Amino acid sequence: MGVSTRSSISLGEGSTPFVAARRLSERLGFDLHLKCDGLNPTGSFKDRGMVVAVERAVQAGAHAVVCASTGNTAASAAAYAARAGIQAVVLTPAGATATAKRAQARAAGARLVEIRGTFDDALRLCRELGERDGFVLVNSVNPDRREGQKSVVGEILEQLGSAPDIVALPFGGGGNVSSVAVGLSEAGASTRIVVGQAAERATTWASAIRISEPAHAANVAELVGSGRVEVATLTEEEIRGAWQLLSLGEGVFCEPASAAGLAALDHVPDVAGATVVCILTGHGLKDADAVDDGGSAPVEATLDAVLEAIA
Ligand code: F0G
Repeated sequence: MGVSTRSSISLGEGSTPFVAARRLSERLGFDLHLKCDGLNPTGSFKDRGMVVAVERAVQAGAHAVVCASTGNTAASAAAYAARAGIQAVVLTPAGATATAKRAQARAAGARLVEIRGTFDDALRLCRELGERDGFVLVNSVNPDRREGQKSVVGEILEQLGSAPDIVALPFGGGGNVSSVAVGLSEAGASTRIVVGQAAERATTWASAIRISEPAHAANVAELVGSGRVEVATLTEEEIRGAWQLLSLGEGVFCEPASAAGLAALDHVPDVAGATVVCILTGHGLKDADAVDDGGSAPVEATLDAVLEAIA
């Protein structure tokens, strides 16, 4: 769709599955659809914007792209940098990101530096690095990222066949909600935008949104002020509960942060009967360690033991 299919460094981003969540719709009392953006090439929505940002960085003569990340931006920047034949430099908060995301970034040859600090410290350093010759910052403060991320809106309108009453998504740094708001406005859609943020921003189970100081906080506040966006602040239990609804109720495996949009719907008025699209931003395989309960101990390889185990 749009920009991505024209890019010489495309990995096939966009055109992700759109799933009618029939069982959950019945249970929750509204018409729920899931935009499965974890099925992008590197497993998160970041690819939509990254393909644009890296291509433009190369056109501008960059030798390296640089980003701070809780993991998904890192994996995406690394993949598109490899595709473009340039270096990716990634700063992540030590001990706070999912293993699979770091593995993805390293596999694509990124210089991944874990810092003894937070995501917010990493972003501050990356803003400085991005000022250096040959370096381009590809966090969502880069407008090319946000422009690319808008493509999700066109797909939702097309796949649903009309504008939904509500689009719900997670709120970490706020880049994605900013992009979605612009995309909906440009499409002339008056769709309500509902976002979920973790009350425990610094330490939440949803590691992708462990961000204390959202880079787009001022813009999001403005969108809230103008009535365009509704923000819900979520407990850990609420995020986990929504994640479980998606996996148990529909078989859709997203990462913890991606469930924040669904959880947010409990906090806003007039959802009953509405047509709702939740953007599931990242794949469950990204953070399998966080969601796996370990199961039970192995049993003897006999039919009796197996029957007992599943009783
Ligand atoms: N969902 C997932 C899976 C994410 O990885 C992120 C952000 C968000 C939601 C929040 O989006 O920041 O635009 O509000 N991840 C960034 C990263 C911070 O480094 O991968 P946002």
